[in-house]
Amino acid sequence: MARQKIQAPKGVSEYVPPRSKLFEFVRECLIAPARSAGYQLMELPVFEDTELFTRGVGESTDVVSKEMYTFTDRGDRSITLRPEGTAGAMRAVIEHGLDRGQLPVKIWYSGQYFRAERPQAGRYRQFYQVGIEAIGLDDPAIDAEVIAIADSGFKAIGLKKYRLEITSLGDAQSRAAHRIDLSKFISTLGLDEATAARAALNPLRLFDDKREEVRKAMLKAPLLIDYLSDASRAHFESVKSYLDALGISYLINPRMVRGLDYYTGTTFEFVHELLGAQTGIGGGGRYDGLMQELGGQELSGIGFGLGVDRALLAAEAEGVISQDGFVADLFIIPLGDSAMVKTLEIAMQLRSTGKVVEIAFGDRALKAAMKAADKSGARYVVVLGDEEIANKSVELKNMNSGVSTSVTIDSLINAL
Ligand code: HAM
Repeated sequence: MARQKIQAPKGVSEYVPPRSKLFEFVRECLIAPARSAGYQLMELPVFEDTELFTRGVGESTDVVSKEMYTFTDRGDRSITLRPEGTAGAMRAVIEHGLDRGQLPVKIWYSGQYFRAERPQAGRYRQFYQVGIEAIGLDDPAIDAEVIAIADSGFKAIGLKKYRLEITSLGDAQSRAAHRIDLSKFISTLGLDEATAARAALNPLRLFDDKREEVRKAMLKAPLLIDYLSDASRAHFESVKSYLDALGISYLINPRMVRGLDYYTGTTFEFVHELLGAQTGIGGGGRYDGLMQELGGQELSGIGFGLGVDRALLAAEAEGVISQDGFVADLFIIPLGDSAMVKTLEIAMQLRSTGKVVEIAFGDRALKAAMKAADKSGARYVVVLGDEEIANKSVELKNMNSGVSTSVTIDSLINAL
């Protein structure tokens, strides 16, 4: 009797060939600008002590209150699959004393993140991010650089139909002044108990409420951007003028609410036009109190997380990437046992120079092997038999033009 098939858990994003090549391309496009700007890799665990997120990300957030994958491990510890990367990165910076070295600490990371959300197109329970964090610098120029790095990644993919939205959440003084007026305003709305409790933890959350009546009411709410202290306003003005100088256009969205509680000062989101409901392809901002909240020094930070899954969907929606163009440089068809030995040798040599080389394995007839070569989309094909080995020369067939050229085995690398 056939056993029942097992399927992937609901709502996870996964990539298999041929689409996985597009995923790889998109992820690499998002990472490359960070590397070029001197950010260094951090590889961190996908699970952490639950308290890292309750303290770091904030209990008023959906992420912490509803969406964490939390379990008790065999040692009776509360463990959570990371819903985001910043808290873990700060934990590691503190734990490894990077904050005691040269500042700013500039790191990048990429990997899987987990949020128990209701799955839909572009919203997954396991998804991928590429992120960077720059710690220990208040200079508004680094805010602009961080935003520019994200923008370069999206541009490298070829994306055009997205916009950058920015705002400032100000410093503690700005937020305190605003909070008094906002809380006063909210208390007049007659909200249900749960919403009022949420607002008490972080009144800004109400700007993000999806219910029509709350949204309508919040249209009249006082905006934080009108409460910025002189220092916060000057910082934000400076960020904007750097972005202007870099030719990065932006829209000021004073109602933007990031889904995580640690944000302060400059915050931003990249929004794609063609993605339907899940339009955020990336976001980030400053988090000037987070290090201290997690037991570290009083150091500021800024960073972003870019959604690799959504950037890929956006690229497909814009039609800027296709599966073509990602093919092997050479496909070798060996005829017989001794030819296979030589083929493996040649393939290893060429691969060590960065060429992508595939081999026809198994006892296939030449015709079937040629068909496989054709299907693989390889740029060139070579048939290697005893005669070719004896003559140290092969016919290199260009699969595009159909033209074959005689080349020596030693000069294959140049011919490719
Ligand atoms: P975030 O806005 O929560 O920020 O996530 C960043 C990006 O991850 C989003 O813009 C979106 O593209 C993607 N994303 C989030 N949730 C999902 C999901 N369920 N399915 C698919 N994609 C998703 C952060 O996580 C911050 N740690 C970013 C940051 C770094 N801020 C400062 N430093």
